[in-house]
Amino acid sequence: MAQEKANHLLTLEEFIIRSQNRFDGATGELSQLLRDIGLAAKIVSREVNKAGITNLLGQQGSRNVHGESVKKLDVFADEQIMSALARSGIVSLMISEESNELIRLESSSGKYIVFFDPLDGSSNIDVNVSVGTIFSIYMRKSHREVRAEESDALQPGDKQAAAGYVLYGSSTMLVYTTGMGVSSFTLDPTIGEFMLTDDDIRIPDFHPQYSINEGYSSGWPEGVRSYIEYIKKVDPQTKRPYSLRYIGSMVSDLHRTLLLGGIFLYPPNVSNPEGKLRLMYECNPMGYIIEQAGGLALDGRGRILEIVPESIHQTAPAYMGSRKNVEKLMEFLRSEK
Ligand code: AHG
Ligand code: MN
Ligand code: MN
Repeated sequence: MAQEKANHLLTLEEFIIRSQNRFDGATGELSQLLRDIGLAAKIVSREVNKAGITNLLGQQGSRNVHGESVKKLDVFADEQIMSALARSGIVSLMISEESNELIRLESSSGKYIVFFDPLDGSSNIDVNVSVGTIFSIYMRKSHREVRAEESDALQPGDKQAAAGYVLYGSSTMLVYTTGMGVSSFTLDPTIGEFMLTDDDIRIPDFHPQYSINEGYSSGWPEGVRSYIEYIKKVDPQTKRPYSLRYIGSMVSDLHRTLLLGGIFLYPPNVSNPEGKLRLMYECNPMGYIIEQAGGLALDGRGRILEIVPESIHQTAPAYMGSRKNVEKLMEFLRSEK
C-alpha cells in the first residue's frame, strides 16, 4: 500500500473499500459505517471552521450528564453523528457523551454499537483551539433478532471492531484503526475529500515530552507525583528535563503524542478519584489507536482495553503514549505500593 500511496492519491472511501476487499466474507457493513462517520465529520468540520461567524460558539444553556455546560457546537456535532449512525441502518445502539441514557435505534437489529464523544475539548472552542470527535465501534454480543441491551454495549475495549477520531485542527484529520494498524487522512477542503496521509502510523518508542494538567498535582497518586518530579530533573543522558505540552483537548494532546511520542497522563485527582476521562468513548478508542501504533495505554493497574466496564459513562485514569515513557512511569507507580 505504501508504494501505491506514492503513485496515487487515495481517498478515505477508496481506502476503506480496498481494505475491506482484503477480507473474504466481509459484508461491507463496517465499511459503510466508517464512510458514514467520515461524512458526518466533514459536516462538523465545516461548522467548526465557520463557528465564529455563524454564532455557533458559546453556551447552549444546558448541562450534560457530567454537570458540564453544553456548548452549541457540542449539540450540533451530536446531532450530526447521531443522524449519520441512524442513516446507516446497521447500528442498534448509540451511546453519546451528551446523552444520559443509551439511544436505541429503529434498526434495532443492526449488528453494531457505537460510543462517541461528539466534541472533545469543547471548553476550548470559544478560544479557537483544536477540538475533536471520538468514536468506538463494537459488534453486539446478542443475536440480531433480539433487542440490543446495555449489556451488549458493556464490553472491554479489547473487543472494539474499530475506533477513531477526527481532529479539527489547522487542518481536519481522520485517524482510525480496525485492528490492523493505524491510518490517517487529511481533509482537502477544496475537493471535500479525506485523502490518505499515512497508512501505518507508528508511535516512536520514546520522546522526552509529557502532557498533564499540573494544576491538579496535589491530588495525584504518589507515584505520578514522583514520576513528574523525576522527568523535570536535569540529566542529559536520559534526555531530562522533558518538555511539557498540554492543550486540554484529549484528541489534540494524543494526536501529537501519537506522531511525536511522549506520554499523556490524566491521573486521579481530588475532584475525580477515578480519573476524569470516560472509559467507553475517550480512553478505549484512543487507547486502541495508541496500542495499534505500538504504544501503551494503561490505567495504572493494567491495560485500559482490559477493563470490564460496569456503566456506559464510567471514567478511568489514563496513561498513554510511547512504550518506554509509559514503562518508566509504571516503575514509579509500582514502587508507590
Ligand atoms: P470534553 O470536552 O469531551 O468534556 O472532554 C474534555 C476532556 C479532554 O478533552 C481533556 O483531555 C480533558 O477534558 C481536560 O481536562 P482538564 O481541563 O481537567 O485538564
Ligand atoms: Mn471528551
Ligand atoms: Mn465532549
